[in-house]
Amino acid sequence: VITKVKARQILDSRGIPTVEVDLYTNKGMFRASAPSGAPSGMYEAIELRDGYKSRYLGNGVSKAVRNINEKISEAIVGMDPILQNQIDQSMIDLDKTEKKGELGANAILAVSIAACRAGAAEKEVPLYKHIAELSGRGSNVLPVPAFTLISGGKHAGNNLAIQEIMILPVGAQRFEEAMQMGSETYHHLKAVIAEKYGAHGCNVGEDGGLAPDITRQYNAIFHSFKYSIINFVFSTFCSFKEGLDLVMEAIGRTGYIDKVKIALDIAATDFCIGSKYDLDIKSPRRPGQNFKSGEDMIEIYKELCRDYPVVSIEDPFDKEDWEQVKKFSALGICQVVGDELLMSNPKRIERAIQENACNALVLKVNQLGTVTEAIEVVKTAKDANWGVVISQRSGETDDSFLADLSVGLATGQIKSGAPCRGERLAKYNQLIRIEEEIGDEARYVGDHWRHS
Ligand code: PGA
Ligand code: ZN
Repeated sequence: VITKVKARQILDSRGIPTVEVDLYTNKGMFRASAPSGAPSGMYEAIELRDGYKSRYLGNGVSKAVRNINEKISEAIVGMDPILQNQIDQSMIDLDKTEKKGELGANAILAVSIAACRAGAAEKEVPLYKHIAELSGRGSNVLPVPAFTLISGGKHAGNNLAIQEIMILPVGAQRFEEAMQMGSETYHHLKAVIAEKYGAHGCNVGEDGGLAPDITRQYNAIFHSFKYSIINFVFSTFCSFKEGLDLVMEAIGRTGYIDKVKIALDIAATDFCIGSKYDLDIKSPRRPGQNFKSGEDMIEIYKELCRDYPVVSIEDPFDKEDWEQVKKFSALGICQVVGDELLMSNPKRIERAIQENACNALVLKVNQLGTVTEAIEVVKTAKDANWGVVISQRSGETDDSFLADLSVGLATGQIKSGAPCRGERLAKYNQLIRIEEEIGDEARYVGDHWRHS
């Protein structure tokens, strides 16, 4: 049984406070912490922050910590940690609000994950196995990692509008080989970027991706009014192809051509102005000069899928631009992933399934707040024959729970940033350990990543 729950405030990878909890049972102490990202809107669970500007710029989480130490602790001490469902439900009941704003989803999630670890220990099985038993899904399938190689958007201080250029080493035989492919490509890319942009181009974004000022060469060729004319005549002319070219050059140097595919997180909401998309929103020289319509963006994506091994595009349009994303998904040319479009929200997921708005889910557990709810939405998405990507947040900790979650739910895909930076590698390294532990029975998902 759960004998004690003790929470504290720690700092995440961005240096912002978050919640950590130690949950005790007769089997020992089980620790977990909550990640944090850029809030995407009114449909996600609420992260409780103190708001006292004089402490951590208003970002302290002492209220959430107190909620655990006083209220949640009282409610769950004495419960059996195997009963994840009941533990999660008792916190939901205690909170009483739809979005967990009373206790804080950050408080509830940290406890939920710690309880899950305690449940596994109680049964004396590995965490991924316990999750597989809770969910009734597989437990020996290792996901394809989506490694962020180039960061932009809100995650980096460069001028790239889109948020992530990732690679998927689908041609590996084992997860560990996928790690090797990711790491080698990352280091070749670093060299390519240093040659073209100088060493400062190798500074990294929040999730460890390299962050060069991507439009440098493009700037040199097309500037001032010439640029406007070219942009006007060729609506598919887009600066971030330069980023894809860099990644292709790096893949070429590794020799993994054909074994490595490309995934993009456009995070288009962040550069949508009215109904137009400003691909140069972060360029100091040209904001507002490179507006694309939704139709132009569709043409750009078609070209990317034709000219590059792009197999997955996340948030290709603004989070409320359902019409365009439906049109794009109907083309069936790649996996269309809903992150901000869905916010992991069951109602938005249902709507997207009904309307065929996308065909894959990004699951960010802290947008829901409990392990039980995460299991539920993954089932819903898989039943609709969708792809599922277990995802990090831009603010992470050294907690590796997502690795076990991706195996326990057999999602087939995990997105944990670059093969660089401790908090990103905490998840990938845990997957190396899980593959080793499963041994001969382990299956790397490889080419079946969309429908594991
Ligand atoms: P976030 O980014 O954690 O900053 O929301 C992650 C993503 O967009 O995939
Ligand atoms: Zn995203």
